[in-house]
Amino acid sequence: MSISYVNGRYLPKKNAKISIEDRGFNFSDGVYELIKFSNLFLLNFEDHTQRLENSLSSIEIVFPFSNKISLKIIINNLIKLNNFESGYVYVQVTRGTAKRDHKFPLNVKSNVIISIFPEKDYKDLLKGIKVKIFPDLRWSRCDIKSISLLPNVLGKEKAHKLGVYEIWQKNINSEITEGTTSNSFIVNHNDEIQTHPKNNNILGGVTRNLVIALAKKNDLKVKEKPFNVKEAYNCKEAFLTSTTVGILPVLSIDEMRISSGKPGEITKLLIAIFQKYQRKQSIKNG
Ligand code: PDD
Repeated sequence: MSISYVNGRYLPKKNAKISIEDRGFNFSDGVYELIKFSNLFLLNFEDHTQRLENSLSSIEIVFPFSNKISLKIIINNLIKLNNFESGYVYVQVTRGTAKRDHKFPLNVKSNVIISIFPEKDYKDLLKGIKVKIFPDLRWSRCDIKSISLLPNVLGKEKAHKLGVYEIWQKNINSEITEGTTSNSFIVNHNDEIQTHPKNNNILGGVTRNLVIALAKKNDLKVKEKPFNVKEAYNCKEAFLTSTTVGILPVLSIDEMRISSGKPGEITKLLIAIFQKYQRKQSIKNG
């Protein structure tokens, strides 16, 4: 039986209920995090909780746990109750339950939901995936991990219908911002790993930041500057990153074949370095 945490209680998912006046339900007035755990160890927990704090403070919701350690304890309890060793933790915090009115309600406690999902098998995706480019329809605070995901949902459905893994979103200058659930990278003709800088137009992915740090540590060149559609079509290699899938090689962008249709050398090296780092984290701390 799957157990979730709802406002202080551990409940079977089918009995876990939130009011129809939850502001997340009515206004998408809330934020979330998705954290991976491996062998019972929460990967990159500090980075995820820091981003959760940033998202919450950006929309003026108080961090609803005494501190980060108490959040960790709740999540670890939930992992034990659900009885599997590797998977994903979904944490959602909304402004709370109140009569429908756009402005912030007074004296309302936020609603907190935490659920656990088993690990997905994405080994096949590691062979490489396809992406297509479409306009970025989102707002100018994509750095907040908001539960308002309609453009992302529509983008992912488009990808599904077109038979590709991801949509890469382009801004009005034809620059790639990011995917609908992942950050976008190319390796350019100077052998630089290039990606959109961390600002309000993208979600600063935990995996993105880690991959950049690991690349630099391993003497690979990194350029945090937007690349445009033409540069994407002509790149040497391409890949995407997210907590769910790690690093995935991109082998075609629209109909253009990338790195002769095989994962590129720098991408393969980064995947090896990243996987080793994640493994070491969970062994050292497990
Ligand atoms: N998505 N950009 C967007 C728009 C995302 O939704 C995500 C993550 C990322 C990658 O961030 P990170 O490396 O921290 O996972 C980038 C998660 C996995 C999701 O919504 O399920």
